[in-house]
Amino acid sequence: MTRAISLHDLSKTYPKQPAPAVDRFSLEIPPGEFLVLLGPSGCGKSTVLRMIAGLEDISSGELLLDGEYANNLAPGDRRMAMVFQNFALYPSMTSRQNIGFPLRFEMPGEDQNPRVEETARILGIEEILDRYPGQLSGGERQRVAMGRAISRHPSVFLMDEPLSNLDAKLRSHLRAEIARLTRGMGVTTVYVTHDQAEAMSLGDRVAVMRGGVLQQVGSPRDTYHLPVNVFVAAFIGTPRINLLQATVLAPLGGGMWIDFGRQRLGLPEPLSLDHQMLRIQQGRDIIVGLRSEAVRIAAPSSAHAGEVVLSGIVEHVEYQGHECLVHLNTGAKPAVVPELEAPRLPAQRTRSAARRAAAGPGGLGKLARKAAGRFPGLLQEPDGAGAVKVLDPPPADRAEQPTGDLVVRTGPDIRVRPGDRVPLLVDLAHLYVFDNTGRRICPAPAEQPRLE
Ligand SMILES: Nc1ncnc2c1ncn2[C@@H]1O[C@H](COP(=O)(O)OP(=O)(O)OP(=O)(O)O)[C@@H](O)[C@H]1O
Ligand SMILES: [Mg+2]
Repeated sequence: MTRAISLHDLSKTYPKQPAPAVDRFSLEIPPGEFLVLLGPSGCGKSTVLRMIAGLEDISSGELLLDGEYANNLAPGDRRMAMVFQNFALYPSMTSRQNIGFPLRFEMPGEDQNPRVEETARILGIEEILDRYPGQLSGGERQRVAMGRAISRHPSVFLMDEPLSNLDAKLRSHLRAEIARLTRGMGVTTVYVTHDQAEAMSLGDRVAVMRGGVLQQVGSPRDTYHLPVNVFVAAFIGTPRINLLQATVLAPLGGGMWIDFGRQRLGLPEPLSLDHQMLRIQQGRDIIVGLRSEAVRIAAPSSAHAGEVVLSGIVEHVEYQGHECLVHLNTGAKPAVVPELEAPRLPAQRTRSAARRAAAGPGGLGKLARKAAGRFPGLLQEPDGAGAVKVLDPPPADRAEQPTGDLVVRTGPDIRVRPGDRVPLLVDLAHLYVFDNTGRRICPAPAEQPRLE
């Protein structure tokens, strides 16, 4: 049996905290769905999960399980199993006893061994059933913890970063296992992570949170291709989407350009409906988003319809085996999303940027302050905790160099070297424009379900 979970305007305010940890969170999770809650540290993911589990009181709003009001249902009556990051196994019990432990209450007086062995078979851990946690590897311990959750045949799985203590290889292996298991069992699953790759690979849908507020919920494909705002665009995808500050130029005589400061990108005429809408942005700051695969390095003569040309100077080529990531300067100014980590700073600039960050908010550069004024919703002073959130001006010896920052994905055989100036073909079908509040305006969000 699996259950539908409905969250209606769910909020949580902790005592003595001015802002709610979770703010009017609404979501319908149909039976059997694998839903991932994704967002940066502190955005309220665990709090949502704990309210669903009944481990945290709900300050306001409603939790429904299969349509029934469940705000006050005791945790034990919810038939949910939780797997945490810090999975606690009883050290003095074998794996068999650990997995069987919750069953003592679920099926008192019955032999738990068949259920334990069935669970162990599903997880491939029959061999380690009679070992103690101290004799197990991290991955094996996590599987036993999963076993303890599975053996109860729960109607809902709640998983809070269950893999984050494991190394990368094991994580990806167990990730596949979790997907196989939960799908096989058809159990509604809510899975918390701050790792976007994990979210994309596991979720039927991904719900992206920021500061306690749900930003967007959709399939991994939609959250990648149609991010509702600059935060979602920047949070999802590796390498991170290129975000550049720009303005729209649409002179009376006709034509329209996106102006990046040192370069302009001419939009082809007749203008598409989406591009016509950009006219109202004239005179305002916008942010242009270009994923690394939306730009090609090629000879301008090879431009196809729907592509426009910029140019950039190669800074650095990252060889990845199956592809290369080429870091370029285009002369544009990068836009910064404050909750996320440091913007990509060219290697030459990182030291001074780190020094500024270490100096705390007082060390903010003039440029950053100016930028913060222009993008009040996006750029804030750094918290002084070490995260570099400032746009750092280039050192004097590079002052004449463009300050732009663009990463382009290419084939592995690209022959470019640092210092080369290369033409860049921009695929207009994959050019995003965000307004100065960070909301996506191009492609127009008309048919998107909008969440405020
Ligand atoms: N018991 C508590 N009392 C006061 N504030 C709390 C409590 N638990 C969480 N918070 C605050 O609520 C906010 C959301 O916390 P939560 O643990 O849900 O974040 P999270 O998204 O799970 O973060 P992480 O990825 O770091 O686990 C944070 O600002 C946190 O400091
Ligand atoms: Mg958490």
